[in-house]
Amino acid sequence: MTRNPAVRRLADWSPGDLRDLAAEYGTPLYVQDLDRVRENYERVAAAFPDARIHYAVKANAGRAVLRALREAGAGAECASAGEVYRALDAGFEPSEIHYTAVNPPARDLDYVLDAAPDATFVVGARDTVDRLAERGFAGRLAVRVHPGVGAGHSEAVATGADAKFGVPHDEAAAVIGDAVDRGFDVVGVHAHVGSGMLTDDDVAAHREVVERLAAVARNAPADLEFVDAGGGFGVPYRPDEEPLDLGSVADATRTALADVDADLVLEPGRYFVADAGVLLTEVNTVKPTDGATLAGVDAGMTTLLRPALYGAHHEVRSLAPDAADRDTDAVDVVGPICESTDVLAEDRRLPAPERGDLLAVGNAGAYGVEMSFQYNSRQRPAVVALDGGEDSLARERDGFDSLTAPER
Ligand code: LLP
Repeated sequence: MTRNPAVRRLADWSPGDLRDLAAEYGTPLYVQDLDRVRENYERVAAAFPDARIHYAVKANAGRAVLRALREAGAGAECASAGEVYRALDAGFEPSEIHYTAVNPPARDLDYVLDAAPDATFVVGARDTVDRLAERGFAGRLAVRVHPGVGAGHSEAVATGADAKFGVPHDEAAAVIGDAVDRGFDVVGVHAHVGSGMLTDDDVAAHREVVERLAAVARNAPADLEFVDAGGGFGVPYRPDEEPLDLGSVADATRTALADVDADLVLEPGRYFVADAGVLLTEVNTVKPTDGATLAGVDAGMTTLLRPALYGAHHEVRSLAPDAADRDTDAVDVVGPICESTDVLAEDRRLPAPERGDLLAVGNAGAYGVEMSFQYNSRQRPAVVALDGGEDSLARERDGFDSLTAPER
């Protein structure tokens, strides 16, 4: 079977290599392959040769990932002051940063204005323009438009249809005009359909969003430098899902923007990092039940939140050396957290699990370690980066001291 370069399935990872990494670094462990991150970036850059690509840092803000994408030519899209801090730390110039301020806390505005005044502030409310003006800022501004059309892998991430994000599209011209009058350098307009676009219907929704954005751009009382069509490029999480057709996204985007004279900006996150990452976890408890066999593992919802939060599906593979010789079983993979929702995978056909087995969880590179947290006083996992076949520790596992260090 020839491999489609647009998708890296869990089966494409070498079980022996993953076992070696788990033995060396312990579990739970995120493995992030920077070479694959670069490949994913290059595919998007090739499909959109004229676009400026800003990596959505929220998908995976690890320093090694940020550096790899910066070196590949990306800018950074940051959703918080903390992400701006990380982008600067990784070597992005302030001018390469778009700060997408969603109801920004005052502390965030103050930090970004101080640390990266040459960044582009992408604002989604009149109030944010006012608050920047009150702080004496009149620099680069882009207005985020609420398109009223959303798509994504779940309702929870179809941000284009959630009015929390952006200025209503029929008010955008007024907000832009107002900002221009107040001396801001209004350089762009922005919209984002949602996260996880995969199907033809999703691409159609993206096209509709960009058409609405184009209408705003054509009528904008400002000389726009760019139109930011957002991110949201999905990856297949289930074996029967086809990869996103980047060519069709490019066609839809270009067609919608045909008569708009401005650069195209894109800000994907997931697409670059998701299939470049796996999560390794060890089985410590096997319990037969009336339904599935429970495989209790050392990673839980605090390590990878997506299944508990969205019902998201992640492929699971047994890395047991004799996996092929075992009978298969219906298995629920459950974590160590005191919550019934602490389920990583439900009712999967897997080689009958045994204590000490290593499991790999696929597509863990996006919104994995980034959404990990310390509930139940768990420690966030370690991350190993692979670069040119070499592995190195990118992030230490939290120690117990990280739990009490902030206490007074
Ligand atoms: N730009 C904006 C303005 C966004 O809000 C987002 C994602 C992106 C870009 C990047 O979207 P991507 O290309 O990664 O799909 N935690 C969820 C995803 C939430 C995404 C929110 N915004 C998940 O685990 O699926």
